[in-house]
Amino acid sequence: MKRKALLRTLTVLAVIVFAGITFAGNADNGKSLFNNPALGSNGRTCSSCHRDGKGINGTKSVFRIIGREFNDPADAINFCLKIALKGNPLQKESQEMQDLVAYIKSLKPGKKKRIIGC
Ligand code: HEC
Repeated sequence: MKRKALLRTLTVLAVIVFAGITFAGNADNGKSLFNNPALGSNGRTCSSCHRDGKGINGTKSVFRIIGREFNDPADAINFCLKIALKGNPLQKESQEMQDLVAYIKSLKPGKKKRIIGC
């Protein structure tokens, strides 16, 4: 009986770990999307304004974009996606969004990383 319970626990843990690996965002793929004009419809990419992630500090818990506040990085991404790239917002659960969030979160605050030319 005890062995069965242990086995069941291990199976549940294995499934959770597997799901974590499968559904977690991939920052490298996120970076590719960040540089991909197909994300929007006006020929721009995220890096047209945020070259090498410029102006983004992914370690923050609140993102501010032209007077708006977002607690969820996915909302900040969708805001820029709609306004700046004229793209369709991404579903939060989508792989693309998870990848973009992973990339955004990997961006650290730099010294004077202001956005220029936008
Ligand atoms: C037309 C220029 C432009 C483009 C293109 C653009 N952004 Fe932005 N983005 C901005 C501006 C301006 C801000 C506000 C920065 C500030 O106030 O310092 C901002 C802010 C952000 C922030 C919040 C940064 C922070 O640390 O608070 C995120 C996240 C972000 N953008 C993600 C993206 C993503 C992802 C894309 C591509 C889908 C994108 N942006 C495309 C101009 C742009």
